[in-house]
Amino acid sequence: MRLVVGFTKPRNSIIGLVLSGDIESVGKDVKKFKQGDQVYGMTGFGFGAYAEYKSMSEKESTGWCLAIKPSNMSHEETAAITYGGILATHFMKSGNIQDGQRVLIYGASGAIGTTAVQLAKCQGAEVTGVCSTNNFELVKSLGADKVIDYKTEDSKNRLETYDFVFDAVGENKSSELKVQCRKALGQYGKYASVDDGLLKYRSEYLVQLKEFIELEK
Ligand SMILES: NC(=O)c1ccc[n+]([C@@H]2O[C@H](COP(=O)([O-])OP(=O)(O)OC[C@H]3O[C@@H](n4cnc5c(N)ncnc54)[C@H](OP(=O)(O)O)[C@@H]3O)[C@@H](O)[C@H]2O)c1
Repeated sequence: MRLVVGFTKPRNSIIGLVLSGDIESVGKDVKKFKQGDQVYGMTGFGFGAYAEYKSMSEKESTGWCLAIKPSNMSHEETAAITYGGILATHFMKSGNIQDGQRVLIYGASGAIGTTAVQLAKCQGAEVTGVCSTNNFELVKSLGADKVIDYKTEDSKNRLETYDFVFDAVGENKSSELKVQCRKALGQYGKYASVDDGLLKYRSEYLVQLKEFIELEK
């Protein structure tokens, strides 16, 4: 990461990866956006989002992407949803969730997990969220049907058989329960983890997220 970001300190002294704002002006060859468009996205390792202005290329790279923001959210809200939303949209696709399936989100209260719970619920799944007890109400309010605390001793006894298990926490944080979650898959069950490869940030995820968020109107 130091090679990418800067060895002794960040190359760009203005940090910040996620942004939401109005397009101030566009170059003459820009087709996708126009002045006044309200957009949200990620800057990638070029950083610079914690500023009033950010110059970006229209063409996305593996590191940055931009799209029109959801109309029913403020800039503050869309900036907050961007990072977790992109990751959750990407990984939840691999579950190919069908109506009525059982889905378990491990790390349901995190930046990625909170969007994953809502996406699974929107696809008609019966959702179980794993998080701390003090986040139970939050996760239930997002649509989880059941919640399990990864810290409690009897948690593994509460597991059922799932069609899709998504680890939204990653390898850095684990628990005995996580090992059991992986084993709680049905015959054709699928498993995905946020650590499955370095993600390419694509504006199509932002477009999908916008459509999903606007369903709430
Ligand atoms: N593939 C990629 O390109 C990519 C890019 C960026 C990040 N990532 C991965 O995403 C991870 C960060 O996700 P995030 O930003 O959503 O995290 P986050 O917002 O910090 O959420 C952390 C979640 O983990 C839970 N948790 C905390 N300690 C835990 C433990 N010991 N055992 C089990 N769960 C625990 C938290 O639950 P409570 O708070 O309720 O306890 C919360 O639900 C990174 O660690 C990295 O692995 C992947």
